[in-house]
Amino acid sequence: MLVSATEMLNKAKAGHYAVGQFNINNLEWTKAILLTAQELNSPVILGVSEGAGKYMGGYKTVVGMVKGLIEEQKITVPVALHLDHGSYDHCYKCLEAGFSSIMFDGSHYPIDENVAKTTELVKAAHDKGVSIEAEVGAIGGEEDGVVGMGECADPKECKAIADLGVDFLAAGIGNIHGKYPANWAGLSFETLDAIQQLTGELPLVLHGGTGIPADMIQKAISLGVAKINVNTECQLSFTAATRKYFEEGKDQVGKGYDPRKVLAPGFEAIKATVKEKMELFGSVGKA
Ligand code: 13P
Repeated sequence: MLVSATEMLNKAKAGHYAVGQFNINNLEWTKAILLTAQELNSPVILGVSEGAGKYMGGYKTVVGMVKGLIEEQKITVPVALHLDHGSYDHCYKCLEAGFSSIMFDGSHYPIDENVAKTTELVKAAHDKGVSIEAEVGAIGGEEDGVVGMGECADPKECKAIADLGVDFLAAGIGNIHGKYPANWAGLSFETLDAIQQLTGELPLVLHGGTGIPADMIQKAISLGVAKINVNTECQLSFTAATRKYFEEGKDQVGKGYDPRKVLAPGFEAIKATVKEKMELFGSVGKA
């Protein structure tokens, strides 16, 4: 069932576990994540970045694919289809296309403009029963080959955005997208704690889930994180498994060139990564 992410994340926050958001790129990714969630009886959030939405042929294509898979693969666990790091315009596009959740990333605007745009989008999303995530404090990552260290959000700004009625909030706590550099200082639990003190019951979101050590993930969950985003890690495991297939010359044996055979190891690798994360996040059996 395609549902808003509000209920599953409120349950996760109250139950002290987190629901994974796994970003999708194509049919194999989507099917692997949905089947794993069903096998483990876990709620799940499918993340779609603007770039991935364009790559897959547009948001309506994505909605059709996800709804088709849910029906035909008999997926009964709660599934949210969520726009990841959406701009103002793309939030509206996804509301129109039938997404069940959106993220408005206004973190690069001055706080007043972030507040104005978030307020408007909260109403537009809630009018359609769609959940909305906002972001405070830019989450770093690799841009043009330079890895920016993650910022730490101002807890008071987090409270101001939380009060606009968003359903869950992403706050920078030193986390970054992509692989973490060797000299990464780790997550700032002090910041996370201060944010939770002010935002209370609101589920908090941890971006950049790839490569964060298990003990830090668990501590973050204990301090109010109820949604963890994972993207790069599935890409790394898919690509490693695919590389192995070619390195072992399997494409040259029999009908090894069949794309369904070529993509099978990567598909299984995504399933294994998603399973590992769901177990770590504690969402197994929580559907
Ligand atoms: P990673 O690619 O580091 O896992 O981050 C994913 C993410 O936060 C998507 O918003």
